[in-house]
Amino acid sequence: MGGRVVVLDFGGQYNQLIARRVREAGVYSELLPRSASRERILGDELSGVILSGGPDSVYEENAMTCPDWVFELGVPVLGICYGMQYMAKVFGGEIGSAAIGEYGRTNAVYADHALFEGMDERVVWMNHNDSVLRMGDGFRSIAYTAHCPIAAFANDEKRLYGIQFHAEVEHTEDGKRVFSNFLRGICGLACDWSPSNIAEDMIEEVRAQVGDGKVLAALSGGVDSSVAAVLVHRAIGDRLTCIFVDHGLLRLNEAEEVMAFYGESLGLNIIKVDAQERFLSKLEGVSDPEAKRKIIGEEFVRVFEEQAERLTGFDYLLQGTIYPDVIESGSGGSAVIKSHHNVGGLPEDIGFVGIIEPLRSLFKDEVRELGLSLDIPPQLVWRQPFPGPGLAIRVIGDITREKLDILRRTDYILRREVRAAGLERVLWQYFTVFTGIRSVGVMGDRRTYDYAIGVRAVTSSDAMSVDWAEIPFPVLKRISDCIIAEVDHVNRVVYDITSKPPGTVEWE
Ligand code: XMP
Repeated sequence: MGGRVVVLDFGGQYNQLIARRVREAGVYSELLPRSASRERILGDELSGVILSGGPDSVYEENAMTCPDWVFELGVPVLGICYGMQYMAKVFGGEIGSAAIGEYGRTNAVYADHALFEGMDERVVWMNHNDSVLRMGDGFRSIAYTAHCPIAAFANDEKRLYGIQFHAEVEHTEDGKRVFSNFLRGICGLACDWSPSNIAEDMIEEVRAQVGDGKVLAALSGGVDSSVAAVLVHRAIGDRLTCIFVDHGLLRLNEAEEVMAFYGESLGLNIIKVDAQERFLSKLEGVSDPEAKRKIIGEEFVRVFEEQAERLTGFDYLLQGTIYPDVIESGSGGSAVIKSHHNVGGLPEDIGFVGIIEPLRSLFKDEVRELGLSLDIPPQLVWRQPFPGPGLAIRVIGDITREKLDILRRTDYILRREVRAAGLERVLWQYFTVFTGIRSVGVMGDRRTYDYAIGVRAVTSSDAMSVDWAEIPFPVLKRISDCIIAEVDHVNRVVYDITSKPPGTVEWE
């Protein structure tokens, strides 16, 4: 595999980012709980350990620790923030409140050391009250800031290193360099891992797990379920069957596009279940957003169960679980099928021998890279996220076919114009909302009393915090003009200028 680095989780808010940075530097990395066994940490191949930051103070009662053998695995160990302080304590140093805590950008001066190869004075991101006041034997300070004389240390003989600052956050200039110096210069790694060159290994793994069994999958058309399905199809061909449920809440032409691409072009075995009537009648008169979600989630499971029962003979259920889902369910713990999962949270106990989750170690952007290496076209790999309940949570209030039809057309125009303006990759999500509000207008000298459509377009990197997108006015103008000209019963278009928080991405 070309090396593997384990990040031990001491509870810091940036821990996922540490694993990401290591992967970006070309080394496979996993975030594991401090309680992970020695065997799990060692795995097939261990090349380095990183101790993360965390909220504790090392001398506090019940402060987080890790077993001493972590420092004796024969691989370099890098402590970040709390991880550094904890390492200092274990090796006889002294930690205390700094005279002045450092929060935010600070200037650091680096010594001549492999960890800072090619770097000199740079801005780093600090977030600490405690710091290392005295180091144990064999350690030396290799960086300082105005208020922190030991901003980094090294014990080259024991191959132990610590940095007080957060190299994983963007604000640390050259932070990526610190990771690549650690990985190349100190762990001696080639740094040639990438999600695209592990496709063959992943395909082999699926073959080994499934043997001559058969796999059933729910294909939503979203990136994760599609990449998972294409990967498994490469591994076992026709022994994979995908169920694609058309719940009547998809975008314009979406069902046809999914069937045409995955079914006809790629030759996946797909069964399309037309359940539009079923979902829409269950949703009739329902206007509460959470009630809509619940109905759709439950109905989805029911449809899938019926199909699984009808098809029989399947050994495995394929899930498009990705790494953030695994981490959210308890850092490296076993995967929990989340209720808000895109395909509705399928139950595990509908007669399968097991679940396969080939993407469970990948981040979203890595899934995309893998998808591209499997020859899935960029426009599908870069599709914007689309919620499981689909357009149901974009029609405010109760849902009717007429409202869905208007919403679909406006959404289609928005997507067309965003593409024409070259903004597809700049925006995280962009869609229209059927606000349900009617207002007075004038068209062709006649009074109108028609619907107002909301346009939502946001930028983000993770959907946790989101900004409304500053789409150029001429593009907004064109979107508005086209929607009103091309879609009957719409006489007003409004642009949502709310960030998240306090808003959410979806209106419901
Ligand atoms: P919010 O609206 O919570 O959305 O800011 C964050 C991201 O999640 C998507 N979303 C959902 N996805 N089922 C899903 O599969 C849902 O019920 C759901 N609600 C929101 C939303 O599109 C955005 O990407």
